[in-house]
Amino acid sequence: MAKHVLVLNLLAITCALVVAFEPSPLQDFCVAEPSGSARVNGFACMDPKLAQANHFTFSGLHVAGNTSNPLGSRVTPVTVAQIPGLNTLGASLARIDYAPWGVIPPHVHPRATEILTVIEGSLEVGFVTSNPDNRLITKVLKKGDVFVFPIGLAHFQRNVGHGNAFSISALSSQNPGVITIANAVFGSNPSIADDLLARAFQLDKSVVGQLQTKF
Ligand SMILES: *[C@@H]1O[C@H](CO)[C@@H](O)[C@H](O)[C@H]1NC(C)=O
Repeated sequence: MAKHVLVLNLLAITCALVVAFEPSPLQDFCVAEPSGSARVNGFACMDPKLAQANHFTFSGLHVAGNTSNPLGSRVTPVTVAQIPGLNTLGASLARIDYAPWGVIPPHVHPRATEILTVIEGSLEVGFVTSNPDNRLITKVLKKGDVFVFPIGLAHFQRNVGHGNAFSISALSSQNPGVITIANAVFGSNPSIADDLLARAFQLDKSVVGQLQTKF
């Protein structure tokens, strides 16, 4: 009997953890009202009677992003910021364009698992498991291939084809968040102490300084 209670308790705890972020909505929808003063985990809801199709719509994902930048890539996000109707629903999309050899640098989505589909071209993708193994799981994807980046793990993409490439990602949060690792470490504002970073990364302080000017 006590064992059953324990199992039930464990189940309850597990379920509580699973639904601790972006829980199943308790209404059909909650179109974001960004100016609303109510404090919720997400945006306040507009009056559902006022909701229209345009609150659930985004147009233009067929348009390639401009990849003329040092990384040779461009993300076009479709999150709750673009579609207020995504509020509380735990989903979003992104289109990513890549120039030849263009890179999405190692980054983390703190709130979402990502599932990426290659629509055009060929991409090298990968993620690294957490400590202590830090195992690299990597693959070259071709058009039509799908790959998963588990929530919270550092991952990257690179166009290994000779033409342009693009992919569409679905993410399990209305607001996945992005932590680009180099920017977080070497581009924080204000800067992390250079002698700390020199020791942490086993680098010369001048190299740390150089990295800090780049991010
Ligand atoms: C793409 O971005 C570059 C650099 O910002 C800019 O010079 C160029 O005009 C842009 N191209 C288009 C088609 O918008």
